[in-house]
Amino acid sequence: TSSLPIFSQEEVTKHRSLQDGVWVTYKGGVYDITEFVAMHPGGDKILLAAGGALEPFWALYAVHKQEHVLEILSEYKVGEL
Ligand code: HEM
Repeated sequence: TSSLPIFSQEEVTKHRSLQDGVWVTYKGGVYDITEFVAMHPGGDKILLAAGGALEPFWALYAVHKQEHVLEILSEYKVGEL
């Protein structure tokens, strides 16, 4: 349960640049990671997921299967799909 707003996939897709904001989804959550992009240990690759789902990328880069990565992500939650 959460009191965060519900966003459509269409709304998320509008946010795929540093100018418009960088949003991603993960397991039904919506995250505004704009401020994290410059801090990402994997650099600009993070922008490949902009406006869409993290799952296919995190399946490829198993370095993300760690509790501390999910803790970082949770800080940027802005809503639900
Ligand atoms: C590494 C976070 C999205 C590619 C990392 C690490 C963190 C992180 C914390 C370091 C992990 C460690 O070494 O313990 C995130 C978060 C993401 C995200 C919070 C989304 C909000 C992505 C995406 C890609 C990606 C979408 C690829 C398309 C990489 C790569 C590394 C990495 C290649 C390894 C960098 C290295 O050690 O040289 N990420 N990541 N990440 N990430 Fe991400």
